[in-house]
Amino acid sequence: MPIHSKPNYWILETDSTAYSLGVNSHGLLTHAYWGKRLPSQNDYPETPVMVNWESFNNAAHLTPEEYPAYTGMKYVEPDILVTFPDGVRDLVLHFEDAELQAGEKPELHVHLRDDHYPVQLTLHYRVHEAQDLIERWVSIHNLGGDPVMIERIFSALWHLPPGQDYFLSHLTGNWNDEMHLRRELLTYGSKILESRRLTTSHQHNSWFVIDHGNVDEDHGEVWFGVLAWSGNWKLTAEVTDYAATRLHQGLNDWDFAWRLNQGETFTTPSSLAGYTPDGFSSASQKLHDYAREHVLPHGKMLNKVLYNSWEATFFFVEEESQARLAEMAASIGVELFVVDDGWFHKRDNDWTGLGDWWPDEEKFPHGLAPLIQKVNSLGMDFGLWIEPEMVNPDSDLYRAYPDWVIHFPTRQRSEGRNQLILNLARQNVRDYLIEKIDHLLSEYNIRFIKWDMNRHVSEPGFMDSPGDPREIWVRYVQGVYSVWRELARRHPEVVWQSCSGGGGRADFGILQLADQIWVSDNTDAIARLSIQEGFSRVFPANTMEAWVTDAGKDILPLSFRFHASMCGVLGIGGNLMLWSPDDIAEAAKWIDTYKDIRHIIQLGDLYRLRCVSHDNCPAIQYVSKDQAESVLFAFRTYMPEPYRLSPIYLRGLIPEAMYNVEGCATPRTGAAWMHDGLQIDLNNFQSTLRLIKRVE
Ligand code: DGJ
Repeated sequence: MPIHSKPNYWILETDSTAYSLGVNSHGLLTHAYWGKRLPSQNDYPETPVMVNWESFNNAAHLTPEEYPAYTGMKYVEPDILVTFPDGVRDLVLHFEDAELQAGEKPELHVHLRDDHYPVQLTLHYRVHEAQDLIERWVSIHNLGGDPVMIERIFSALWHLPPGQDYFLSHLTGNWNDEMHLRRELLTYGSKILESRRLTTSHQHNSWFVIDHGNVDEDHGEVWFGVLAWSGNWKLTAEVTDYAATRLHQGLNDWDFAWRLNQGETFTTPSSLAGYTPDGFSSASQKLHDYAREHVLPHGKMLNKVLYNSWEATFFFVEEESQARLAEMAASIGVELFVVDDGWFHKRDNDWTGLGDWWPDEEKFPHGLAPLIQKVNSLGMDFGLWIEPEMVNPDSDLYRAYPDWVIHFPTRQRSEGRNQLILNLARQNVRDYLIEKIDHLLSEYNIRFIKWDMNRHVSEPGFMDSPGDPREIWVRYVQGVYSVWRELARRHPEVVWQSCSGGGGRADFGILQLADQIWVSDNTDAIARLSIQEGFSRVFPANTMEAWVTDAGKDILPLSFRFHASMCGVLGIGGNLMLWSPDDIAEAAKWIDTYKDIRHIIQLGDLYRLRCVSHDNCPAIQYVSKDQAESVLFAFRTYMPEPYRLSPIYLRGLIPEAMYNVEGCATPRTGAAWMHDGLQIDLNNFQSTLRLIKRVE
């Protein structure tokens, strides 16, 4: 059992790390340790006890409380704020008891209780030993008669070892330009990252990494984490006035409130965090392994090479032209043919149709069956695009139920891409969507769904909410999850992709439902190298759908575009009808190669050998878990001549074993490839793929 319990003290051990907490002599639940696993259980520090220091520095303010509530003379960020029925806004939590739960993923539950009001708070911990991760979430239970208003309830507070300077790495971006790495020194005060957009957002991701500054991809201590949630979230990185660094992570408290009635429990999403002494690549690998082992619906499945119609035909999808594309796709080895936007009732452009989820009568006079049969007869699975959460005002659905959208009754409804958002906090909306999509999935042989979401929220009204109208932020996301979960339950044969105008909904919450993420609408391979690198910091390659399209084709050779997309789940999105016979032959060759190596890419360990964020010659390596096979991709974007590329030092090989690197004359030991490296010369806009195999 990796959770050890001493009187009023608990140690959570993973394979290489440890986390400890306890109740100090003042009765406060206090953080004690988080970092490398120590040889003996007696090595872990006692829970700290702080004393007042002048009237301005009360003990409560100085103590590294495990989960501080707003009460007393405490001016650090609290993790929970409530208002009791009598208007009191002061939550005084005392340790009640703790339980351990054995099992495959052992858990610790620590119960705290207010000393006056009938409210119980439970801090939950789950240990993921092999991935060195601790999962935390919180539940609050109203044991009394009157409702309690929750105004903030974060999932976890992560304390960093005291007395050090820390850097925060995070991802920022925009639509068409997601996932750029930023790294900055944390100084006194708070740095807030958040989403207020109803979904995860392209702008910021809830992933974080903290380090001391002397860290690279392979060396140095880092603490890292994610929030498993697809709605408004918040991360506050706080350096207190006594230089204690701590990270609060959870639901965004901006415009948030939740009425907790008698006997009800509110549970937060999970925050997952880990520690590694081995740099940024190691932190990514642990998250990747966790996603594949514990999160994804089919984490060990090899994802198929798909074709997607969007960039080839946009809204002009109809039976005949899609059938011709399907023939071309099958001829180059595609395994899954996906019809994107444009297939449903009156969807000729982005002004109409959303909400009316049945095939357009003109484009598909006999429904989708003839096209699906054609696709299947070509040996491919069939997939379809939907955007269930949205409605165009010009649709049968909106004409029938205009009040189903998120809105304030007295305000104009702001449209984004000519669409409004259905309020999935409402049960009748959920039921409608389940019925319509279930019908599609039952009638047709559909094996893949791309679930899109193409705007963010405005006028977030929910006037007939069963609780406080501001519950919409959470109830909406619960609604998305519940519709999706129900459809997945009824149709286990379907693989799902999460898309929100590209990578607007990429998080560990949605990955419990979706095996793949559409990373960005930007399919230019050079832009992709950077976006994909940011994505790879959090998510494994088997979730990273990447298409070869016609973007950038005047500068970038087809091989470069293929190599960039082969770094994830390879897809094709270009207009094959316009590709030359040479391009078609080359595409078939790369798809064939990809099928031979995709197990290494999708399920192996990733090493960022040279990062595009520092270098115009990025290199990425994937290594199979048994370290017998590996794939190296190297790219050169643009460097003015003369320029000599530095050697590439491989990673993840067994030092004593011999490996052959494609294109190199003689096998060498893993140690030689890793420490002496190999020289690969590339011209501007050239790339290479090298297979690496253990030979003895
Ligand atoms: C946004 C997606 O990211 C694109 O791939 C495409 O599906 C369009 N929506 C369709 O409207």
